[in-house]
Order: sequence, then C-alpha cells, then structure tokens
Amino acid sequence: MIVAIDGPAGAGKSTVARALAARLGFGYLDTGAMYRAVAWLALEHGVPLDDADAVGALAEAHPVELRPRADGNDVSIGGRDVTGLIRTARVSAAVSPVAAHPSVRRACVAAQRALLAAGDWVCDGRDIGTVVWPGAEAKVFLVATPEERARRRRDELEGRGETADLAAVLADIERRDHLDSTRADSPLRAAPDAITVDTTGLPIDAVTDTLAEIVADRTSGVRS
Ligand code: DC
Repeated sequence: MIVAIDGPAGAGKSTVARALAARLGFGYLDTGAMYRAVAWLALEHGVPLDDADAVGALAEAHPVELRPRADGNDVSIGGRDVTGLIRTARVSAAVSPVAAHPSVRRACVAAQRALLAAGDWVCDGRDIGTVVWPGAEAKVFLVATPEERARRRRDELEGRGETADLAAVLADIERRDHLDSTRADSPLRAAPDAITVDTTGLPIDAVTDTLAEIVADRTSGVRS
C-alpha cells in the first residue's frame, strides 16, 4: 500500500509521514531529500541553478540513492553520503529551481518509483499523488498558514544550531511555494482525490491520528 502525502514546505509532511510510517509499520520515503541532494551537488560544482542542461547532466552523472532507516532516509549522491549536508538554509534556498528542471525530475521520479514498486510506504513530496504514484491507495494534502510553516522551519533550523531569522524564513517559504506551484513540470497541487488536512495549530499526534483514520477508512473501503 502507498500513502501519498503532498503539500508545501513546512506543512508538517516529513514529521507526520515518519510518525505514520512507524505506526503502520511501513517504510518512509522522503522524496524532497533527492532534490536537495541534487541542489547540494550543483552548489558544490558551482553549476548555475537555472542552467537546465548543466544541472540535468549533473543529476544523470551522479545518481541519487535513498536508503530508508527507522527514523528517516540516508541520502547519497554519486556515492557520497550527504544526509547531514542537505538540510541547511543554503540548500533550501537553492532547491526549488533545481527541482523545476524536467531532466532532474525524470531521474528522481524513476528512483522513487523503483523503491515504491515493492512493499508498503508512506511517501512525502509535492507530486506523489499526482505524478509519482497516482494509484496511491491514500492521498493526503497537508497545508498550514505560511506564518506557522515559517515558525516550524525556524525552530527546526535553530534546533540544528543554525541561526534563522523568522522574516527571512517566511520569505524563503513563500518564494518556494510560488516556484513549486507555478513550475511547468509536476507543479505542487492536490490530487483531485486527495483529502486536504490543515495542520495549523495542531500537534503532530493529532495530525498523525487523522491520517491513520484516513488510511483505515481507505483500507476498509469506507471512503471511495
Ligand atoms: O520537502 P522538502 O522541503 O525537503 O523539499 C525540497 C524541495 O524539493 C522543495 O522546494 C520542492 C522539491 N520537491 C519536489 O519538487 N518534488 C517532490 N516530490 C519533493 C520535493
């Protein structure tokens, strides 16, 4: 069974997806980590982020590998483990233009589908229910106000010892929302059969409970 969780940055997708996967005994697949790895490599190589050919060639020459573990995914690109390197504000600021290139998306989506083809997964991203796995048995679109999403991202960055200014984080989130939802290839949007859940003001446990109910309903065929 595949549970697809899509939504904008900071809506709580990865935290809830991890908790839900643990509760259900499913694997957890963090597709954003793949685009972050490609963005990290482009920065390392000094490749202009908007150069589709150059970034695409880089992605093709350096395959991204995700290895699920109990509490998240290890990510490597071109054989180098970048798990700890892809969560910085610098990579966050670079990733949307990189993820907009069709060549990059082709490479990442093929790797995602290869993983999802076997077993049970909770998978989060922007296009899981629409493009990567349209046949997902349960689809959720998580949303929250931009201000709340910015506060969560700031707390996350500060928790890792980075300094983060709330206004700058909010501006980055709004810029990414715009880029992710207006790109031509696989824009961020809810699948027609996704259930939208607003996580503003809700604790993780409550959101996880809601999603677990949606999955249970889908499994028992209560919702069509
Ligand atoms: O979820 P995240 O913040 O780690 O995602 C990083 C970026 O990758 C985000 O700005 C959009 C992009 N992304 C995407 O285009 N498609 C996905 N399935 C997942 C992420």
